Amino acid sequence: KMIKKGIILAGGHGTRMSPLTKAVNKQLLPIYDKPLIFYPLSILMLSKIKEILIIINKGQLNQYRKILPDGRNLGIKIIYKEQSYPKGLPDAFLLGEKFIGKDNVALILGDNFFYGQSLSKTLLDCVKLKKGAKVLLHKVSKPELYGLAKVKGRNKIVSIKEKPKKYFSDLAITGLYFFDKNVVKFSKQLKPSKRGELEITDLLNRYKKKQQLYADYIGRGGAWLDTGSIEDFYKTSAFVSAIENRQGFKISCIEEIALNNKWISKKNIIEAIKFYGKCQYSDYLKKLI
Ligand code: TTP
Repeated sequence: KMIKKGIILAGGHGTRMSPLTKAVNKQLLPIYDKPLIFYPLSILMLSKIKEILIIINKGQLNQYRKILPDGRNLGIKIIYKEQSYPKGLPDAFLLGEKFIGKDNVALILGDNFFYGQSLSKTLLDCVKLKKGAKVLLHKVSKPELYGLAKVKGRNKIVSIKEKPKKYFSDLAITGLYFFDKNVVKFSKQLKPSKRGELEITDLLNRYKKKQQLYADYIGRGGAWLDTGSIEDFYKTSAFVSAIENRQGFKISCIEEIALNNKWISKKNIIEAIKFYGKCQYSDYLKKLI
């Protein structure tokens, strides 16, 4: 039994990206040739997750629906839920209570970019999670900027810390998480931190105390970029552009992933080409069929 449901957190203040984020949500801004939201959505699709809840800011539903309606065009199901204001990452599980029901669930942050050779294989392994929680770790050169994990053996997390000043570990906790169904119950027990938000670290610590917090890795061949700032946005765009133009395939083309998963047919690709119109993205779709 694999995890079949996933949540994308696509709200947030987007403070660091202002004024770009004053009128448009961060996840709708471009990373090179497509909206940022395509990248985390692709990660869930590569994990063979077909039921997706996207959490967005109040008042932005119409904008999102224009680019990602209900998922039928991708052979998946997308539903939306508005968050009244950013209350913290675990709020995803309070807003998603009905969506989650009694199932296990994945969470991905809307502004996280993952890319790498063996990534799909790792993802398909992560969705096998039965009990506890699993996070994806990645080695970073400036650990003081991240939430970090200390691991015993290969997969057991024994300690986590948020942006410690003194060296603790160089394994950052990325924005992709897998939880068992207890996540709703545990999230309900959390209290807001000093900064007034529910903290993912507190939630992960619940699992750690029960010795049920596990790690997997993106690995050396993979990239993880957090696109929170304008500089990061630019760097990620440059990365995508370099790979796509050199190798002639696209990163996170959602129709291509759906087609490869056999969730849609050629007919859907033709409809997508009509929808996007005359553009380089459509030219790429044409080549797929
Ligand atoms: P953050 O990086 O915490 O914040 P942000 O995107 O609002 O940016 P800034 O710090 O510049 O103000 O959020 C991580 C991701 O999670 C991002 O994609 C927004 C999303 N998010 C929500 O959807 N709801 C929330 O309550 C929070 C805290 C974040």
